[in-house]
Amino acid sequence: MIFVGELADLPPGESARVQGEAPIAVFNVDGELFAIDDTCTHQDASLSDGWLEGCAVECPLHAACFDLRTGRPSGPPAKKPVRTHQVSVDDGLVYVLESTSVDAAVEGVS
Ligand code: FES
Repeated sequence: MIFVGELADLPPGESARVQGEAPIAVFNVDGELFAIDDTCTHQDASLSDGWLEGCAVECPLHAACFDLRTGRPSGPPAKKPVRTHQVSVDDGLVYVLESTSVDAAVEGVS
């Protein structure tokens, strides 16, 4: 489990970046928390710096959108999904359980 921080510091519409095996972005979408790999699969951009649009985040560099529930891009220029990760909240503290692979992450939500 990777400690993210206090839930109070991650209000709706905000994101946080933590370091796992790879950087991970955590988003609060209207009170629901999502975590995906932070690095875009197209080039080296940080998705936690992107724009939230419902349950998707738009990459700040070339505007590919990734579904926060599945990690899949909605279209080019990104073609590969990012990993998704489980998020839990315990006593006001946010944690991420890092997935091991893209396949496992995508399989779980198909
Ligand atoms: S770096 Fe994300 S779409 Fe190009």
